[in-house]
Amino acid sequence: MLTFDPKDLSTGKLHGYLLSAVAPRPIAFASTIDEDGNPNLSPFSFFNVFSANPPILIFSPARRVRDNSVKHTLENVEVTREVVINVVNYELVHQASLSSTEYDKGINEFDKAGLTMLKSDVVKPFRVAESPVQMECKVNDIIKLGTEGGAGNLVICEVVKLHISKDVLDENDLIIQEKLDLVARAGGSYYNRAKHGFFEIPKPLQTLGIGIDAMPKEIKNSMIFTGNDLGMLGNVEALPTAEAIADFVKSIGEHHINITEMSRRQKHKMAQNYLSYGDVESAWKLLLS
Ligand SMILES: Cc1cc2nc3c(=O)[nH]c(=O)nc-3n(C[C@H](O)[C@H](O)[C@H](O)COP(=O)(O)O)c2cc1C
Repeated sequence: MLTFDPKDLSTGKLHGYLLSAVAPRPIAFASTIDEDGNPNLSPFSFFNVFSANPPILIFSPARRVRDNSVKHTLENVEVTREVVINVVNYELVHQASLSSTEYDKGINEFDKAGLTMLKSDVVKPFRVAESPVQMECKVNDIIKLGTEGGAGNLVICEVVKLHISKDVLDENDLIIQEKLDLVARAGGSYYNRAKHGFFEIPKPLQTLGIGIDAMPKEIKNSMIFTGNDLGMLGNVEALPTAEAIADFVKSIGEHHINITEMSRRQKHKMAQNYLSYGDVESAWKLLLS
């Protein structure tokens, strides 16, 4: 382990470590206007949702490390207290990146990035027509985290209108995550196309998992199982009954597999194979047979 006191690193170096370590991050495509009504559009990956009631999003335009100057987006929300946060999908990620160019104040990044300004219902800043989810927001608060270069400014936004493209909805009006095709920002110049990496994990909240600590020693200390394997095994609500195990042994015996002759290592390997395609129940029946 390389261990640091953040105070011993330059802000630039620390920035690099933090942005690679806390990744991938969602991207807020923030549309604002200045005091004269000039539109501004910039991406911010210091961004997330923090509350559903009230619906709160927070993003952070930081003071530049280079010269401690502040970003136009921050200046705009300080004056107008309004912003539209649009999501960034794969189709518009290069335009979002282009809009992050540090154009002079008053330059309209919608024009620079070739994006369409769509009138909002409640707030003055425009929506990005090409974005599949557009959230009109009032700014409730702005929390300054410091006064030096690199200091963030938390812009606390309350969503007052939510627009979702029908193209990304299913028949129940729920968002199809793959269709939304969001991108995220990681360290350096790395981005991530979310849909290429999705996988599902059954929610532990629905069941009260037995936990790894409650497992028999030879399973939790197995040389075969990984942490993920044990996590899956520990997420079951109850262990299979003696009857279910006996049925399993019988049915597997019909395929000429004699569990009683298997070594512990073989059993663990076979259970791991069940886990690899999500069959936790069979893994447990095998392990307890
Ligand atoms: C994908 C992406 C994410 C970014 N995230 C942030 C961020 O979270 N905070 C920040 O201060 N700058 C961020 N930037 C840089 C700003 O977008 C850039 O400084 C922009 O010019 C600010 O524009 P403005 O001065 O018009 O507000 C990001 C850039 C890109 C391309």
